[in-house]
Amino acid sequence: MKILIVGGGGREHALAWKLRQSHLVTELYCAPGNAGTGGLGVNVPIGAGDVPALVGFARQKGIEFVVVGPELPLTLGLADRLTAAGIPTFGPTQAAAQLEGSKAFAKDFMARHRIPTAAYAVFQAGREREAKAFAAALPGPWVVKADGLAAGKGVLICATMAETAKAIDDILVRQAFGAAGASLVIEEYLTGQELSLMAFADGKTVALMPPAQDHKRIYDGDQGPNTGGMGAYAPAPAGTPAVVAQAHREILLPAVEAMAAEGRPFQGVLYAGLMLTEKGPVALEFNARFGDPETEAVLPLLEDDLLEIMLACAAGGLERMPQRWREASCATVVMATAGYPAGSQTGDIIRGLDRLPADVTAFHCGTAVDGQGRVVTAGGRALAITAVRPTLAAATAAAYQGVDAVEFAGSQHRRDIARRALTS
Ligand code: AMP
Ligand code: GLY
Repeated sequence: MKILIVGGGGREHALAWKLRQSHLVTELYCAPGNAGTGGLGVNVPIGAGDVPALVGFARQKGIEFVVVGPELPLTLGLADRLTAAGIPTFGPTQAAAQLEGSKAFAKDFMARHRIPTAAYAVFQAGREREAKAFAAALPGPWVVKADGLAAGKGVLICATMAETAKAIDDILVRQAFGAAGASLVIEEYLTGQELSLMAFADGKTVALMPPAQDHKRIYDGDQGPNTGGMGAYAPAPAGTPAVVAQAHREILLPAVEAMAAEGRPFQGVLYAGLMLTEKGPVALEFNARFGDPETEAVLPLLEDDLLEIMLACAAGGLERMPQRWREASCATVVMATAGYPAGSQTGDIIRGLDRLPADVTAFHCGTAVDGQGRVVTAGGRALAITAVRPTLAAATAAAYQGVDAVEFAGSQHRRDIARRALTS
């Protein structure tokens, strides 16, 4: 089959790497891809948000199946357009992607269906006074979320009411997030460990993947600003069988069933960002796609054919599709460029990729090939160095050995990926 993967980060390289293992795949395209996907298939210079160009390319190339990585094209209706053009697609419709595209929609949906989530209220522009009054009645710290997609920056955790009032005005009055901030959610602050639980879904069946944890802050010990994710591991021991079963029963399955009942069946990957509270898992958010870097830590554990599973999600029949996961652990450590996350330094030559052991994988996040055929940095996060081993300790050690073999100017990474799981 001719496959098109939409996106160009570490998640998409991991998808391409896993799909390449499928006997069904004959041609693989990635739009826009990176140096890593370019080694597995053909990169196409179309941005992941350019829906008309993606549909046009898929038609012209005779693409038989499209796998959508990031949220933006899903919320813009790429899956709807491709399906209308007769091209089956892995990923939810625009209506179903609202679970990620609008935090107000997601919160109201969870409230309607009694899915455990933090107490909240939604406020539109012009309602700043009410928003501040609602916040003032909550104990701090305060959580303020822009409604729409904000590239992972739309969640503000405020330590004081003064900061909260400013966050509300920044979003609703000063439009710091543009149209994504036409409304906002204020919610109760929850404490606990976070867990990323992803599931394949075909509109009615929910098939869980191993639970993962990512590391959002730039520095060791969860210090410093948020990033797109500095590393991940799976299975995360915090996701005990009891926690996972409860999250399945109370959060993921009801969500998929309710989406179908509301006439917007969810097909693709449903990602629940969970807070593990004393009362059990609570949904902080839904994403309508694979997580990044969780995907780099989860897909290497999948034994079965990813394409067959994805085809079953798109066509229905997921309940008949086996998914076996290796009895092993996977760790992935992100190597970021200088200045990340405030900015990034690009164009630096990456050395040592050829020195990695065969069983340590460098998933490329932001890389490109320069005019002389050298792999260079091309984004804030450059690589996700990944290893699978029988234990989490061994997987983490192997990933760090890989990190130590690779170098580029100004590279930075965390030294404590998976440490919490290894020391508790
Ligand atoms: P989200 O994009 O909704 O997952 O939020 C990004 C991050 O903000 C989460 O991973 C949490 O670390 C934090 N966060 C979001 N909502 C809450 C909440 N209600 N209580 C505490 N932390 C939160
Ligand atoms: N790792 C968090 C996300 O993909 O949204």
